[in-house]
Amino acid sequence: MNNSAIGVFDSGMGGLTCVKELHSLMPNENIIYFGDTARIPYGTRSRETIMKYAAQDIALMKKHDVKMIIAACGTVSSVVGMEKKDADGIPFTGVLLPTVQAACAKTRNGKVGVIGTSATIKSGSFAKAIRTIKPSISVVGAACPMFVPLVENGFSDRDNKVAQLVAAQYLEPLKREGVDTLILGCTHYPILHDVIADCMGEGVELISTGSEAAKFACAYLTRHDMLAERETDGEISFYSSDSTEMFRENAESFLGEKIKGSVTKVEMEELTSLA
Ligand code: DGL
Repeated sequence: MNNSAIGVFDSGMGGLTCVKELHSLMPNENIIYFGDTARIPYGTRSRETIMKYAAQDIALMKKHDVKMIIAACGTVSSVVGMEKKDADGIPFTGVLLPTVQAACAKTRNGKVGVIGTSATIKSGSFAKAIRTIKPSISVVGAACPMFVPLVENGFSDRDNKVAQLVAAQYLEPLKREGVDTLILGCTHYPILHDVIADCMGEGVELISTGSEAAKFACAYLTRHDMLAERETDGEISFYSSDSTEMFRENAESFLGEKIKGSVTKVEMEELTSLA
C-alpha cells in the first residue's frame, strides 16, 4: 500500500490522455500532472535539449514525493529509451514499452505503423523496441509534425477538412504498406483519433500511448502492492510552466471534462534549477 501520488508529465497537454485513463482505472489514486506548456514542442528539438528538459521534469516529480513517474510524452520516451526503469529508486515508465507490447500482441499481419513527432520518428525507438520483442514484425514510421499544432488549435473534429487533408498526406505511406496496427506515438494524437481512423479505414487497430502507459502503471502498482488505500476519489493536481488559465481552458478537450483540481504555475527559474 502506498498513498503517495502518481506523477505524470508531458511537454504540454497531451499527457492528460494518460491521466484520464489512469483515473478511470484507479479512481482512488492521487495524481500530479505537469505540462511543460512554456517549452512545448519538445518534438522538434535536439536530443540533448529533450534529455535536459526530461531531467528537469523528472526532478520536479521527485520533489512531490511521487510513488511512480510516467513520462506521458512520446518524444521524451523515445529519447530516454526503454532501459530507464527507475529515477533514483522511484519506478519510472515512458510510453514506449507499454505501447510496443500492445502493438506486438495485436498485429495479425505483422505490419505495424508508428506515427509521432519528428524527434520520435528520427530516434527509431519504437521500431527498435518492436524488433527486440518480435523481430519478424515490419515497422513503417511517419513523422506527423503538423498534428500537434492542429490539436492545440482545435482542428481535430472528424469533419475538419484541414485535419483530413493533413492526415491523408501523412498516412498515405502507411496505408500503402498495409499496416493493420497503428501506434499513435504521441500523446496528442488520440484527440485526432476519429480523423486518423477514418483515413486508415476499417480493420486498422489504433493504439494510444497514453492509455497503454496507464494500463502498464496500473498493472505495475498492483503487482508491487503499491496501490493507494483510500475509499474516496483521488485528487488530481495540475502544474504548468505557462499560463494556468490557458491550461484550464485547454484541458477539457484532453480530459473530456473540466478540471476540478488546482492548477499551479511552475516558474521557469525553479524548473531549470532542478537538474
Ligand atoms: N507530447 C509530445 C509527444 O507525445 C508532443 C508535443 C511535443 O512535440 O512536445 O511526443
